[in-house]
Amino acid sequence: MTSTIGILTAGGDSPGLNAAIRAIGKSAIHGYGMNVIGFKDGFRGLMQNRVVRLDGPELSGILTKGGTILGTSRDKPHKMDVGGSTMDMTDLMLENFNEHQLDALVCLGGGGTQKNALRLAEKGMRVLTLPKTIDNDVWGTDATFGFDTALGIATEAVDRLHSTAHSHHRIMVVEVMGHNTGWLALGAGVAGGADAILMPEIPYDIGAIAETILERKAAGSTFSIVAVSEGARSADDRARLSEARAARDAATTDEELSAAEAVLSALDEEEGDHTRRLSRQLESLTGLASRVTILGHVQRGGTPSAIDRLLATRLGAACTEAIHEGIAGVLVASRDEATVMVPLAEVAGKRKTVPLDHRWIKAGRSLGVCFGD
Ligand code: F6P
Repeated sequence: MTSTIGILTAGGDSPGLNAAIRAIGKSAIHGYGMNVIGFKDGFRGLMQNRVVRLDGPELSGILTKGGTILGTSRDKPHKMDVGGSTMDMTDLMLENFNEHQLDALVCLGGGGTQKNALRLAEKGMRVLTLPKTIDNDVWGTDATFGFDTALGIATEAVDRLHSTAHSHHRIMVVEVMGHNTGWLALGAGVAGGADAILMPEIPYDIGAIAETILERKAAGSTFSIVAVSEGARSADDRARLSEARAARDAATTDEELSAAEAVLSALDEEEGDHTRRLSRQLESLTGLASRVTILGHVQRGGTPSAIDRLLATRLGAACTEAIHEGIAGVLVASRDEATVMVPLAEVAGKRKTVPLDHRWIKAGRSLGVCFGD
C-alpha cells in the first residue's frame, strides 16, 4: 500500500518553512512514491481535518517564499480553544490521523511544537518534527531554520542604525526578537558591531551599560548602539519579580494576596515597556539622547537565506528517509553538519540557551563589548 505523510506547521512562522515542506514533499513523491497531504493552520487544521493535497504543483515555486503555504497557529492540541472553552482535542486528532491512514505526521515548529508533538506521539501517532524558529532555541539541534535569515535582517538593522546614531550623537537601543534566549541579539550585536548586547542569559546592571557609553564618549565616540534581546532583564528587575512572586506564594490573608498581586501586575506593565524604560534610564545616566527601534515581526518576514534553505532542504529530505525507514517519535536535528534523530521525549520541555562561554560572547568581550555585567 502507498504510504501517506501528513505535514503541518505550528507556532510563529519562520523563513525556510516552505523550503522544508517542499523538501519533504518532493523527496517523498520522487524518492518513494508516497502521498503527501498538508493540514492547514497547525494543530487546528489537524483537529478540524482541513487538508490540502501536496502532490506536485503546490510544491513548485515555494522555495523562495517566506511564511508557510499551510498557514500556522499557536494552538496546543491538549488545550484547544473550542467555541470559547478550552478542551483536550488529541483524541479527535488521532481519529483524523487514522482516517487519512497516515504513516507519519511531520510537525514543523519550535520549542512548543516539540512538546505538542510528543503529546500526539503519546496518543499513538507516528510523529516526527523539524526544528523551525528564528529564536534558535530548540534543544537537541545546533541550528533551526529561520534563524540565519532573521540574523541577517537584524544585523542589517544594526548596521543601518550606526550612521544615524553617529550623525546625531545618540544612543540607539534596538530590540531584537528571540523569546527567552539571546541568540539573535548576540549574533546581530556582534556581527553589527553593537557596543552593548543585552540578553536573557546575562541579567544586566544599567550602571555598567551607562559606564561603557560614557567611556566611549570620553574617548571621542559620542554615539553608542545597544542591542537588546526582547527577553533581557536587569538583575534588579529579576530580583523584584522573584520577591513579588514569593510574597504572593507566602500570602496568608486576602489583603496580603491582593497587595502581592497588585505589585505583580505593576511589574507586568513595566515589562511591556522594558526597552523604552531602558532607553530612558540610559538617557538620564549619560546625558545623551536615546532612541528606540523595535524590529518586531519584520525579522520573520520575506525570503529565506541560502543557509536556511539548505538546512530546511537537508533536514526535510532526511525526514522523508527516516519515515521510509520506519523511524518516528524524533526531532530531525542538525549536529556538526550531520543529521541526527533525537527522541522527542529528550527534546520536549527544554530550551537551548546561549552558553555563557559561547565563542560569540568571548569574541565580543575581547573587543570591549559590554554585556551588561
Ligand atoms: O518564536 C518566534 C517569535 O518570533 C519570538 O521571537 C517572539 O517572541 C514571538 O515569536 C512573537 O510571537 P507572535 O508572532 O505570536 O507575536
